[in-house]
Amino acid sequence: MPLMESQQDTEAMQQAIQEAAAILRRGGLVALPTETVYGLGADAANPAAVARIFAAKGRPADHPVIVHLGNVSQLEQWATDIPYVAYKLAQAFWPGPLTLILKRNARVSDAVTGGQDTIGLRIPGHPIALALLNAFGGGIAAPSANRFGRISPTTAAHVREELGTAVDTILDGGPCQVGIESTIVDLSAEGARVLRPGGISAAALEAVLGYALSPVASITPRVPGALEVHYAPRTPLKLVAAEGLNATVMTHLQRGERVAVLARTGVSPDQRCRWESMPATAADYAQVLYAKLRALDDLTADIILIEAPPAEAAWQAVLDRLQRAAMRDDRFTAG
Ligand code: TXA
Ligand code: MG
Repeated sequence: MPLMESQQDTEAMQQAIQEAAAILRRGGLVALPTETVYGLGADAANPAAVARIFAAKGRPADHPVIVHLGNVSQLEQWATDIPYVAYKLAQAFWPGPLTLILKRNARVSDAVTGGQDTIGLRIPGHPIALALLNAFGGGIAAPSANRFGRISPTTAAHVREELGTAVDTILDGGPCQVGIESTIVDLSAEGARVLRPGGISAAALEAVLGYALSPVASITPRVPGALEVHYAPRTPLKLVAAEGLNATVMTHLQRGERVAVLARTGVSPDQRCRWESMPATAADYAQVLYAKLRALDDLTADIILIEAPPAEAAWQAVLDRLQRAAMRDDRFTAG
């Protein structure tokens, strides 16, 4: 009786969403699926609830969190001096993997903004997230539902591994479709600037903006969202050009190391390495990337070698995440 089962599933999910909304109203924590990655949500208007997010993640309190909204009409409750282009981008890409940084509304608590005068807002493109936002009615503050500095979760099981009982409930929406975090666009100053590449490309943004994105001045670790050791497995990780991959694999094997490989084009040169082949397109690659990295990390190999993706615009967001995962530098903070 597949029809009845799915109907029961729907009813069970609707009930779970109502319960999750009640948990949010009580100041609790709800892990929710979005189209990008799973979020760890709390009532954005309740500073004590937002503080619980930071405690659960082990994240420093001066990091701002994105506030998720159910409807674009709520923008003015959270932001002020909203430029016209914000509405244009919202109309083109929401619900979807785009976060807008705007000037904050004065009533927004410092717990959400990390004390900055800006706020990150997005309407997520996942039916369960939207149903929860509608049932709750307010904004949901939600960073990715991982421990500080770790790989973002793309399944409910990953959230359980990361946060266990620190979260009051987990809504299971299946594997995330985009698989990496949203594109963050800063509209709080003159022009528009990408702080974090993601599911929406620079070209798609520029087509809607009608002008070119401003360059990001420099790699400034102090700018939240700009560059963070993030998305990092415990196993050391190295990006290797496609041409050099097999030789690098052999070098590490000859040292007696246990080698895991995330490949895209070639075939394994030696049975002793664990060889994982990735999808050919950037979108498909992004969707499975974090789950694959988790699986390879669980092998506790000595090194994970990753075949560098092509240096093309379509791969920009994937390359960004791979570079951050490969980066081990204490100067950078993590989120
Ligand atoms: O796809 C996503 O964006 C996911 C899902 C759950 O929505 N969320 C997410 O949140 O990735 P989080 O907290 O892990 O990353 C948000 C990034 C952080 O780097 C944070 O510093 C930056 O956004 N951010 C948030 N508010 C900001 C602000 N006002 N100014 C600059 N950066 C901000
Ligand atoms: Mg995160």
